Parts: sequence; C-alpha cells; structure tokens
Amino acid sequence: MAKTCYNLDMIHTRDTLKINAKGHLEIGGADCVELAGQFGTPLYVFDEAYIRNMMAIYRDTIRNEYGGNGLVLYASKAFSCEAIYAIARQEAIGVDVVSGGELYTALSAGFPAEYITMHGNNKLPGEIREALDAKIGMIVVDSRSEADLIEEEAAARGMVQDVLIRINPGVEAHTHAYVQTATPDSKFGFSVANGAAEEMTAYVLSKPHLKLHGYHCHIGSQIFEKQSFVLAVQKNLAFMAQMKEKLGFEADALNLGGGFGIWYAEGDAMIDVEGYADYLRALLSTIKEGCRAYGLRLPFVYLEPGRSIVGEAGITLYTVGAIKEIPGIRKYVAIDGGMFDNPRYALYQSKYTAVLANRAAEEATELVSIAGKCCESGDLIGVDFNLPKARRGDLIAVLSTGAYNYSMASNYNRNLIPPAVLVRDGKAEYIVRPQSYADLVRNDVIPQRLK
Ligand code: LLP
Repeated sequence: MAKTCYNLDMIHTRDTLKINAKGHLEIGGADCVELAGQFGTPLYVFDEAYIRNMMAIYRDTIRNEYGGNGLVLYASKAFSCEAIYAIARQEAIGVDVVSGGELYTALSAGFPAEYITMHGNNKLPGEIREALDAKIGMIVVDSRSEADLIEEEAAARGMVQDVLIRINPGVEAHTHAYVQTATPDSKFGFSVANGAAEEMTAYVLSKPHLKLHGYHCHIGSQIFEKQSFVLAVQKNLAFMAQMKEKLGFEADALNLGGGFGIWYAEGDAMIDVEGYADYLRALLSTIKEGCRAYGLRLPFVYLEPGRSIVGEAGITLYTVGAIKEIPGIRKYVAIDGGMFDNPRYALYQSKYTAVLANRAAEEATELVSIAGKCCESGDLIGVDFNLPKARRGDLIAVLSTGAYNYSMASNYNRNLIPPAVLVRDGKAEYIVRPQSYADLVRNDVIPQRLK
C-alpha cells in the first residue's frame, strides 16, 4: 500500500478513526467531509464511544481489582462542557474541577455535587464558598491559608468539609517542564522532603470543621513510565505510614492524580484500553502490597485521568487556505484555525499527526508546516507533517486534540472559538454551539464619554 500520511495500523487499533471507501477519514462512523459540510470548520469532533470506553475501563478496573473501594474522577480541565459531565454522570464516575467555572458547568449539567472534587493551588475565596454551598464531596487543600478559609466558611455553615492534602512526593516524571508538577520546585502541594506535608497534616487535623481523609498527589501529565507512577504511590504510602506513626493519623483515602500519556504522533506509545487498565492495576497492586508491608488499612482510591479519557477521542477539522513555499526552507499550509483553538504547539512544541481528511488514502508526498491564521509567527499546529500535496479547500484533520484544546482555546485576534460536536453511531450533534461575532462584543462597553 502507498505510504499514507500516518500509520494506518496505529489508527485502526483505536476503532475510532477509519478511512472509508471514498478515501475520507471517518471518526466514530461519521465521514469528516460530511461533518465539515454540515457544521463548517474549524470544528472539534469527539467520538462518544471512545470517551465512554475509557471512563468505563477505569471504573471497572477499580471495581474488579480493588473491590470498588475507589472512584474515578474525570479531570475536567482536559475538556469541560456540559455534555462531558452528563456522560461522566451516566458512566457513574466522579469529576475533578479546578475553578468556579468548571464547578458551575458541572452543576449546571446536573452533576451530583457529592462526586465532585475541587483542586487548585490558589482557590479563590469565592470559589471555596461556591464549593461549600454546593456541598461538593472533597476539596484538596493546597495552602495553609486555604485551609483557614475552608475552615472559616465551613464553620459559618455549621458543616464539616471532607478534605485531602496535596503533597509533593518529589517524583520527577519525564514530561515537558510546564506539565511536571512534583519536582522540588513546584507551585503545587506540600513537600514531603522538607517536612511541610507533615506540618500541614497536623494543622488540618487541628481544624474542627475540616475532616482530613488523606492525601493527593499528581506527578505530571503525558507520562508513559509506569515506574514514575509506582514510585509516587510508594512515596505516598511511606508518608502515610509515617503520619500514622508520628501523628496517629491513618489516612483512609489516597488520590493518585492523573497523567497517563496518550498517542499524538510517531514516537509516542500507543496504549490500548487494556493498557490503561494495566497502569491502574499496577498502581492498585502497589497500594495493596505497600499497605500490607506498612500495616496500613487499604485507602479509598481516587484516580484523576483527563487526557487519556478525551484526548484520542477528539480530532479537529480545518480547511486549508493559503499555501506558501519558501524555497529551501519550508512550506506553510495555513488553516482556518490555529493557536486560538490549539495553543499546545505554541506553548509546549507539542507534536501532532495530521491527515488530509478528504484524500486520506493518498500517498504522502510533502513535508509541510501547518500554520494558523493568527498574527504571530509561532502560531503553528506544528512542523514537519507528512501530507499529500494540499490545495486550498482541502480538509485537514489534526488527531488527538480532544484534551487541552477546546479547554485552552481563546478568542485571540477575535477569532471565534470553534464549536464541538459529539459523534455517536455515525451521527453528530453539537455539544458546544458556534460562537458568533455578537458573542465577542457581548461584554464590551463603550463608556459614555467615548461616544
Ligand atoms: N489531576 C490534577 C491535580 C491535575 O493537575 C491534572 C492535570 C490532572 C489530574 C489530569 O491529568 P491528565 O490525566 O490529563 O494528564 N495543558 C497541559 C496539561 C496540563 C495538565 C494539568 N493538570 C497540556 O496541554 O499538555
């Protein structure tokens, strides 16, 4: 077979993307050319079956391997809109939110508050009040002054808030520096090594309106090494054993955060659904062994996957516009999107795979850079994509854009944030409607004196 723009076998493993008889890319049984015709571009497209499978595999692994003594929390920062909370609810998993906005979106989707955990290194007083008013299940405390704020607000309401403390176990994971979180220099958590985590444990235990259940750690994102996760669990357990011995506090809950890597481009591991279950099994058996060794009771386990649930479930469709070749340097293929719908190349030099969705079976003959339409040289989806010769009007699909694309989108240059559709059995529906120019000026005000 001719060399296509990407490795078909890889894609087919997913059962999400296919090339149909017309040579068009399909996602979840929907023809991308038809999707672009129906909804326009740029367009985020999500495969519902993929999302549900991923939620279910984590949920069922905890059920089957850990007696159901745990809860998967979808890290909704990866992709937050009402529909995703509705799916999480149907799949009987919890969610993690990191802002008043995510909390509001979850609640407005009817998500049950008791299955919501709130994170954040600087939760605003208003966000804490919103969380307590909604009676969310858990808050992960990330500073001493925040513990004071929660205590104060809980006391005022005559309630006791369930909390975990975010600890920094000092595990270095191999990922981009900006998405590493548990190195010695991190704005997140309390260091185990310098005694801050212990001090915080004693502090929270002294608060009558906080009920400390245990600890949370998140070592980073887009991590493939099982060993990094296992090490983090071991460090958590060792710390839990220490706190039992020193302070007489035996944790009954442990939140392991998220971070499992996904496939973006050649060179990334491609993990199938069972592979993710393996990661989780490795963590659960480390917990069981560690607890046995330290004589600890088995904690209730939380896991917070974001990227691995929605990342590969999503693609973005773009239409090719201007094409510019700089002899001897590079060829730019510009699309109708860019850093306003996917800032990840600009931020992290992230790699992606692109497919010419309307001629997906054609041989790749060119190496091109895909440029966005923003007034900024760094506005690229990436460099060195293998594609068939692209022409104005062609459709480009960028794969694995389900996580941290829509959720990080902006109106930079007053571009409109693209809508999102959810595909199920070949049929697509909006889950995020298109913005309009009127939306852009909705909150703008011209003071009287300027009129
Ligand atoms: N839990 C906590 C406390 C987190 O901070 C994160 C991600 C997660 C769970 C979910 O991690 P995941 O399973 O999605 O890797 N914008 C970056 C990623 C930032 C991740 C922040 N925290 C990116 O586009 O790569």
